[in-house]
Amino acid sequence: MPLVHMGDMLRHAYEDGYAVAAFDVVSLDFISGIIAAAEERQAPVIISLAESHFEYFKFELLMSAVVTAARETSVPVAIHLDHGQSVESAIAGINSGCTGVMVDTSDLSLVENIRNTKAVVTMAHGCGIPVEGELGYVPGVEGEDAERHPGEVIYTTAAEAKAYVDETGVDFLAVSVGTVHGRMDGEPRIDFDRLSEINQAVGIPLVIHGGTGLSDDQYRQLINNGVTKINYYTALSDAAGRCIGENARVEGRAGYTAMVKGVAEAIRKEAARCIGIWGSAGKSGQLLSRCRPWKPVAHVIVYNTEGLVAEGVDEMMAVGRQVLSAIPGVTEVFTGHAVQEDAEYRHCWVVRFTDRKVIDSYRDHPDHQQFADQRFRPYAGGRISIDYEESL
Ligand code: 13P
Repeated sequence: MPLVHMGDMLRHAYEDGYAVAAFDVVSLDFISGIIAAAEERQAPVIISLAESHFEYFKFELLMSAVVTAARETSVPVAIHLDHGQSVESAIAGINSGCTGVMVDTSDLSLVENIRNTKAVVTMAHGCGIPVEGELGYVPGVEGEDAERHPGEVIYTTAAEAKAYVDETGVDFLAVSVGTVHGRMDGEPRIDFDRLSEINQAVGIPLVIHGGTGLSDDQYRQLINNGVTKINYYTALSDAAGRCIGENARVEGRAGYTAMVKGVAEAIRKEAARCIGIWGSAGKSGQLLSRCRPWKPVAHVIVYNTEGLVAEGVDEMMAVGRQVLSAIPGVTEVFTGHAVQEDAEYRHCWVVRFTDRKVIDSYRDHPDHQQFADQRFRPYAGGRISIDYEESL
């Protein structure tokens, strides 16, 4: 299963001098096109879902497809929540299967940005998940004309970056050095001296947002100065849009499938082009041997109850499913009754964790303790409890 630790992935890129593509997806065609490009180029890839796009699809639904695609492919993949704005967003991302999360509260004051970022880092690290923070401001909106969203670039400074990284413990830092999100006329002017200073000050993998529209030379200079993850969406979206426009012109009256024909292929082409420029092509094999594979854990309890009628057991299970599935790092709560009449244990919980670190953070979480103390343990009879790590 080539879902790998994103921290290992970006550390390798940082030390080896290349950048991993982080492509935002909004549909199945995006997922298929991006995975096809990564396989063709034998490159690691990050599939991102941006919170600003959640009005276009149901997050949990698209995540299921992303997780399936990531588990089926042969190249190393990480799944990332892009531009998450709160601890709640980060928990929703992790519990849906993200293996990395971004917290973007860069529009707040430095003090508040540090406070919010720290809260996300504490929660996510308790789940074994790395965090990307952002300092400075990259204006614009992914997929739209940059001049329609003309906010000022707020540049990241090396001194603030050092303080932010030290205080928050983020694993990767998104910096603002002159790029903008979205479509722009001409190339942006990038402050490479500033980027070099930031890189020397923080010494952790750096991230560029607003990856569309730079020259090949600009990409190379970014990578030479510590950039290991390039976020990219607008050019993929435009390639898809051109394909649909052409289908409409040629087909005239056409339905949905005729309109979107070729979209995945258009996305594959553009994604493969980027991977070629950013140096990650051919890194798949080496990276797979260096990265820890992602291994979820199943926390299994088989048990009997005492002093509860059947409806009481079902009610306790329903409350448990609701309460426990909201705890950070819990990706699924399954409750069941034994099929065999003579089974030694009549009921079970199978609580799936994103990572073995969640065994401790879940056990100590106040919502788990309250549920266990008030709803489960008073009625639990004989039981066996074991944690299983996924075998690959
Ligand atoms: P572009 O849309 O400019 O490629 O930027 C994407 C991005 O930064 C996503 O976070």
